[in-house]
Amino acid sequence: MAPHASAALLAVLAAHMVAGTRRYTYPTYAQAVDAMRSLASHYPSLVKHTTAQGAYGLGTAGTCRTRTPGTQERTFGPCLNHILHITNRQTLPDPDRPDILFLGGLHGDERIGPVSTIELARFLADAYATTPWVRRLVDGASIWIVPLTNAVGYETNTRLELSLFPNRDFGYVQQPERCMTTIAGRTVNELFRRQLFQIVVTFHGGMTSIGYPWGSFNHHRNGPSRAPDDAALVDIARSMSAYASTGGVDKPYPYGTMNEQVYPVHGGMEDWGYAASFDRAGAVRCAPRSHGGYAPGRSDVTNASARALVFLVEAGPKRPRESTLGSSAAVLTPGGPGDGHVPRNIRLALTAIDFLRPHVELLLVEPTPAGPGRPVVVRVGRIVRVAWRMWGATRINRAELVWRASAAEPWATVPGSSEVFRALAQVGAVWASTPAETGAGTHELCVLALSTGAFALAVRAQVDDHWGMPGGARVAPANMPPQSHLARARTDRGWAMANGEQRVVGRTEWLSAPVEVRVGASMSRSDEQPLRSASAPFRPALGCAARRGRRRVFGGEARRREDGGPWPQPRGARRDGA
Ligand SMILES: *[C@@H]1O[C@H](CO)[C@@H](O)[C@H](O)[C@H]1NC(C)=O
Ligand SMILES: [Zn+2]
Repeated sequence: MAPHASAALLAVLAAHMVAGTRRYTYPTYAQAVDAMRSLASHYPSLVKHTTAQGAYGLGTAGTCRTRTPGTQERTFGPCLNHILHITNRQTLPDPDRPDILFLGGLHGDERIGPVSTIELARFLADAYATTPWVRRLVDGASIWIVPLTNAVGYETNTRLELSLFPNRDFGYVQQPERCMTTIAGRTVNELFRRQLFQIVVTFHGGMTSIGYPWGSFNHHRNGPSRAPDDAALVDIARSMSAYASTGGVDKPYPYGTMNEQVYPVHGGMEDWGYAASFDRAGAVRCAPRSHGGYAPGRSDVTNASARALVFLVEAGPKRPRESTLGSSAAVLTPGGPGDGHVPRNIRLALTAIDFLRPHVELLLVEPTPAGPGRPVVVRVGRIVRVAWRMWGATRINRAELVWRASAAEPWATVPGSSEVFRALAQVGAVWASTPAETGAGTHELCVLALSTGAFALAVRAQVDDHWGMPGGARVAPANMPPQSHLARARTDRGWAMANGEQRVVGRTEWLSAPVEVRVGASMSRSDEQPLRSASAPFRPALGCAARRGRRRVFGGEARRREDGGPWPQPRGARRDGA
């Protein structure tokens, strides 16, 4: 008994080494359930584990083997549809925290999605304490993961849920008796009823591509049409492809509409999750007979519930060789040792989470403060240099330095700082030529201190205006402006929607963390006199920004990732044609 128990203990320890490297392997249903349970028990402030049966009272499909907790004993029981919720639970409830959903294994024989999503969950929890980027994502996003969506299909390694089709099972361009027939489909539907998903990523296998709406027959009449949110869909898919990269095991993900990349279907989860709330002509109230039926109202969407940007990721072979899955060491170092299918899919997922909300990161302020929370100290006539980076966005439309003298005042623009930023950016900022690399671009501005006093300085940005603009002639339904929460929330201040406890409210300006600046009297009167008359205490100092800009912002260095930062452009990634 003793050696057995210690082996089990070692296995548990190995699975939870925070700093160690984990080689990825395919779990059985029982091992996957163990992994989810132990994540929730090791990280109770970050991970909640539940099932669609426990949380929503759904029925079950099929029989699965599980391990009785705390023992090595295997038992047979109904397959359960397991759900992980990952976020900083200590700061809940938070109605504004954006929801994102990751699905694995709608098709039970496509094994790459389940291992990728379970390892995504483990990575988020393990890296939270050590990786600032991951901590920001987990603090700021409500991350739902259903790794084995078709649980019985996973257990038996078969595509369908018993004899039913989980990915034709949604109430969009489908016959009422043929949707919500599966427990897998109902699990997804129950999540949509309660949350307000802004992005959904569903992992499949069998080819390599990132697809997005449209993927249904109604929008494939005279060739594939573009969705009203095409601009946002294309930008995010391109960024996911770039940062995922090849993993050293496959080509870069090509991307395009599902109708182009895969084939049109009826009742697909993707178009339903994107459009059922606004493309009412395709929306259907389901009336299935399986599992004792499903109450009619349960498949109704609200005007807010189904407006997610949905990505169907065909993640290479259905079951890549285990030796190509990779290891946790490579997640944040694409192309590094241990890269493989799972690290690249985790990177793809991190990109998606990052896009939930724009974020202005202050990277550097000079002169350097004496310590955290300490002010920058300069004299009148001296220069303050600020560098920042934009996350979660593809284009910076406007960026400026703002200041205030007390927290009670509104932020005021440093006159001319927006124009200086624009001028520098046009010289060749990373984001201007290749928008996917916004996150990689470091931007800098220098200001001259003009008056004595204590001030706060911050960077304010507006991003992705083009996501809010109507698309072109190929958009269907014709002339419809963008409809997704994600695109509207950053381009339309009037956007306000709610579902369940969650809401999304439009906002178009994003502010960095402020830095305190103490400006002391000049050493020489001649410095000070001509500056005194200025109305703002700072003004741009062109020479500094331009000099620094050439060296740091526009060089190849800016593309290198240092802290799990963003996306290098992969060689050979396909540019979207439309
Ligand atoms: C749904 O929301 C959109 C966007 O706010 C709004 O224009 C439309 O009138 C709403 N439709 C219904 C039926 O409430
Ligand atoms: Zn599939």
